[in-house]
Amino acid sequence: MNLVSKHRSGPEALVLGFIGAGRLARAMALALQQAGLPVARVGSRSAEGARATAAMLQDCLPCDPQDVADHCDLVFITTPDAAIARVAESLSWHTGQGVVHCSGATPVAVLQPAAAAGALIGGFHPMQAFGADPQAAVRSLPGCTVAIEAAEPLLDIRLHELAQRLGCAGLTLPPGVRARYHASGGYASQHVHVLLAEAVRLWQSWGATEQQALDALLPLLRGTLASLARSGVADGMPGPISRGDAGTVRQHRQALQAVDPDMRDLYDRLCVRGVALARTTGRLDAAQARLLEQTLDAPPDQNE
Ligand SMILES: NC(=O)c1ccc[n+]([C@@H]2O[C@H](COP(=O)([O-])OP(=O)(O)OC[C@H]3O[C@@H](n4cnc5c(N)ncnc54)[C@H](OP(=O)(O)O)[C@@H]3O)[C@@H](O)[C@H]2O)c1
Repeated sequence: MNLVSKHRSGPEALVLGFIGAGRLARAMALALQQAGLPVARVGSRSAEGARATAAMLQDCLPCDPQDVADHCDLVFITTPDAAIARVAESLSWHTGQGVVHCSGATPVAVLQPAAAAGALIGGFHPMQAFGADPQAAVRSLPGCTVAIEAAEPLLDIRLHELAQRLGCAGLTLPPGVRARYHASGGYASQHVHVLLAEAVRLWQSWGATEQQALDALLPLLRGTLASLARSGVADGMPGPISRGDAGTVRQHRQALQAVDPDMRDLYDRLCVRGVALARTTGRLDAAQARLLEQTLDAPPDQNE
């Protein structure tokens, strides 16, 4: 165990490298550099990918993945999830270096081939979505949570220090919950897109455009985010369910059924969860909840 050489300590002492020169690597490498922690080497599947990312950084060598493994104290494997195990298996690793992947759901155990060679293995997953614009991605990092998993305490400490230097909050996950933790992110990201796609379809059903829908709905979404941050998931919930307004729910179901029964079905399922959530706050009494549940159980044509 020697994540750094004998006479140096702290994150500054680490020679940092990335394998997999994509969106996350560019964001993290630039952010680390801005935090005074330069990235020494970047390797990727294509030489061009490594060159393009290294060119954004100061004094960073584009090289092949084995060079990164040979020369770096801490290597971030930032390939797509499906390639992480293959990269770990196909390269030679050495004793005392850190080898970490940045996937949310992938078990750290896929890095076992590196551990077998004496490396310290771990996970470092920022709970953020990084797009193609590296500068925007860098700006979106501070304030994020980074899930850190490392059995070896020295690697755990170094990864928490790196998270802190990036302006992020390091989070140690209990064993066995990575996939659950990562699925939770879908509700704050991917599924929001899916829900807004439903809303946009409604606007399009009367001939409006997606842009018109978003112009109207994004201010509402921003208000919802502010309310969530202020009041939490249950207390801040707006809408007819939280008011016990079965009449409006009935009208919604009727309208949605006419556009698409599947859309009405999804609405019903979300409302059922909404009733349970509103009940936790005491804003709905048992009678109001029962009326809402009966309304949601009724065949949609009986709602007319
Ligand atoms: N993007 C996000 O929002 C985000 C957020 C949190 C965590 N993550 C995690 O970060 C990791 C990377 O995601 P990403 O979004 O940055 O992916 P990405 O943009 O698709 O980039 C992946 C890069 O890996 C390279 N690559 C593919 N196969 C390889 C191999 N066998 N060996 C070496 N390099 C290889 C590709 O390089 P070439 O260009 O050279 O072909 C590609 O540029 C994943 O584990 C993902 O779960 C991503």
